[in-house]
Amino acid sequence: MDLNARIYVAGHRGLAGSALARRLASGGYRNLVLRTHGEMELTDQAAVKAFFDKERPEYVFVAAAKVGGILANNEYPAEFIQANLAIQTNVIHEAWRGGAKRLLFLGSSCIYPRDCPQPIKEDYLLTGPLELTNRAYAVAKIAGVEMCRSYNRQYGTRYLAAMPTNLYGPGDNYDLASSHVLPALVRKTHEAKARGLDRVSVWGTGKPRREFLHSDDMADACVMLMNLSDAAFDKVLRGPNDFPLINVGCGEDQTIAELARAVASVVGFRGALEFDTSKPDGTPRKLLDVGRLKALGWSSRIGLAEGIAAAYKDFLAREGSARKNINQTSEART
Ligand SMILES: NC(=O)c1ccc[n+]([C@@H]2O[C@H](COP(=O)([O-])OP(=O)(O)OC[C@H]3O[C@@H](n4cnc5c(N)ncnc54)[C@H](OP(=O)(O)O)[C@@H]3O)[C@@H](O)[C@H]2O)c1
Repeated sequence: MDLNARIYVAGHRGLAGSALARRLASGGYRNLVLRTHGEMELTDQAAVKAFFDKERPEYVFVAAAKVGGILANNEYPAEFIQANLAIQTNVIHEAWRGGAKRLLFLGSSCIYPRDCPQPIKEDYLLTGPLELTNRAYAVAKIAGVEMCRSYNRQYGTRYLAAMPTNLYGPGDNYDLASSHVLPALVRKTHEAKARGLDRVSVWGTGKPRREFLHSDDMADACVMLMNLSDAAFDKVLRGPNDFPLINVGCGEDQTIAELARAVASVVGFRGALEFDTSKPDGTPRKLLDVGRLKALGWSSRIGLAEGIAAAYKDFLAREGSARKNINQTSEART
């Protein structure tokens, strides 16, 4: 990508999108085209069409999605499938109409079958039943992968689907009703410590194994992919089973219990961790095979302890500014 190229990051205020926007800005890309959710509703086809007609971005990162943890996915499947199908259909189609050179569509590792062999290779896609709790979300994301494949085949586009493992980092969602496991553990252990509690409840048995990647590492991998030469990019597009698909992870996993202990240690919570086995575990293990990515010379750089420490710092900063806003509002009212 030329440093002057017009680059659109859809969802640039989210966890993944903000990391992409940061990585691009720090890499010297000076022509980012950005719209907040408030400025452009991506489920609104006419709005998305008008945007692409006007801005004509050359490169598109699709990091906008309706995202949530097990609880939200399980309770609102209709909203998850409707919003995600609409967002990706509008952005991918209008990117093609607007003549974007390349597009990178972010999905998630939940697209793979629930019980597939580990680590998960790209060619396990569509080889078995999905995890039920987030099937609506996963099916929408699989449709996005197939859309990239179909546009590449019929229109000769260069659209790649990148499947990151569980992400965490600055700007994460710490709302316990919709957050993923790592930010949820940060909030729970932080609040337990602040209230002087001697125990924290952790969802499930603690036994499932998960892989975590810092969002800045994910962004670095995505920018590397977008910057490949045409020949190298085309090779990635010709993925296993004809899917233009690449996993993005660090290649290491740990149990939820180990993760909880790592978070508690960073936060300084010294109480007990209690595993609530009445809550679902989800998929037993989820570790991506990152062989395709490593073959391109890329590896993650941010270790888990270092990454959690940075995430906790970001959490504290945001808690601080939220408290300041509440104080200012109540001062203004008095
Ligand atoms: N987080 C993870 O662990 C993880 C792991 C693997 C893959 N991914 C993938 O990365 C992508 C982004 O995830 P994320 O975690 O960054 O999510 P996120 O933090 O919730 O960010 C999503 C962004 O999309 C925007 N958005 C949502 N609906 C929109 C709409 N209808 N119109 C316009 N903008 C809309 C959101 O804006 P508002 O907040 O204003 O609604 C937000 O800026 C997803 O495809 C996800 O599958 C995430």
